[in-house]
Amino acid sequence: MKVLVVGNGGREHALAWKLLQSKQIEQVVCIPGNGGTASMERCQNVPLAVDDFEGISQFALKNGISLVVVGPEVPLAKGITDYLQAQGLMVFGPVRAGAQIEASKAWAKALMQEAGIPTARAAVFTEAAAAKSYVKAHGAPIVVKADGLAAGKGVTVAETLTQAEDAIDAIFQGQFGSAGEFVVIEECLIGQEVSVLALTDGLTIRPLLPAQDHKRIGEGDTGENTGGMGVYAPAPIATPELMARIQTEVLEKTIACLRAKGIDYRGVLYAGLMIAPNGDFKVLEFNCRFGDPETQVILPLLETPLEELILACVQQRLGEMPPISWKHGAAATVVAASGGYPGEYEKGKVITGIDSAEATGATIFHAGTKLNQQQQIVTDGGRVLNVTGIGENFKQAIAQAYAGIKYIQFEGVYYRRDIGYRVLSAE
Ligand code: AMP
Ligand code: GLY
Repeated sequence: MKVLVVGNGGREHALAWKLLQSKQIEQVVCIPGNGGTASMERCQNVPLAVDDFEGISQFALKNGISLVVVGPEVPLAKGITDYLQAQGLMVFGPVRAGAQIEASKAWAKALMQEAGIPTARAAVFTEAAAAKSYVKAHGAPIVVKADGLAAGKGVTVAETLTQAEDAIDAIFQGQFGSAGEFVVIEECLIGQEVSVLALTDGLTIRPLLPAQDHKRIGEGDTGENTGGMGVYAPAPIATPELMARIQTEVLEKTIACLRAKGIDYRGVLYAGLMIAPNGDFKVLEFNCRFGDPETQVILPLLETPLEELILACVQQRLGEMPPISWKHGAAATVVAASGGYPGEYEKGKVITGIDSAEATGATIFHAGTKLNQQQQIVTDGGRVLNVTGIGENFKQAIAQAYAGIKYIQFEGVYYRRDIGYRVLSAE
């Protein structure tokens, strides 16, 4: 099989890497891919945009692509699956109607309320004055969310009424483009977050190992939010009892509700959950795709060949598959970021030490990197590399990731030194 992976992050490098471990996969093409996918054997980058559906479809049809795996949410929300399916291609990732579960927070909230899925109390507004009087009536802290895709920047956890009001103004003044036509205001939940990614063929839904990421830039989970500075799996907070409840109270209910709406959802359903100190949980958000960086710790632990699971989803026979099999132990990823991220940063810095880092046994998934004209790997984004360790336990996995990352050098490199502190102290 020749597989096409759409996207250019650490998630897509991990997907390509995992797919290439299978003898069934002859070649992986990444559109557009990054420096890591360009450097793997049997892997090739093609410089097309992720929303150039026509270009992607022509390439796939001309080059004998049997399966397209879509990484990011933007092309899914724009209907890449609908488009490529209409050309006769096999695609993993939900159709546009299904991707609304991530692309519209108001739509997702209505679905959760309709299906009786535990979630934060919320109200949706189409104009600022009503949103502000709701916020005044409920008080701070309170959470203000732009409705649509905002690259992770559309949510404000407001500690004060002024912050909440400013966030409402920013949204209605169009700072998030068409993401700002609605605002969702919801109660502020406390607890620990966990990411439960599940594979579904529209009928059956099976969770992958739960993962927990560190979203803040600074040690001790302080400072600005980022796309994720580190992650580990399986997250111990999601006990087997909790996972069983999430299966029936969230995942199965969601798929049933989507079906009732006539949406045949095949792909990843990712539930971001808040687990309260008393063990109760609520859904914060749904995503319609694999998580990044969660995928970089989940896939190294997956034993069942990934393409078998993906094909079972696309061909709607996930229910016939044996249980998903996992390696024993744990995985952890530490992210090496550009100095200044998540604010301004420079690109084009030459990266050295990747071979030495890999020689320690760590696995390196590239995110914001590319090959320059001299065939050097240079930085090309905020989150640059994901250094992943695997071990019998978190101590070993985290130690391997840190043993690897200390060889990584580029001007301004930054990484957190405390990834996994919660699980290490529990272990
Ligand atoms: P979302 O994109 O909706 O997951 O929001 C991004 C981040 O904002 C989440 O990962 C949480 O850290 C935070 N967040 C979202 N909703 C809430 C909430 N109701 N209470 C507290 N934090 C929240
Ligand atoms: N790790 C958060 C996300 O993929 O949305």
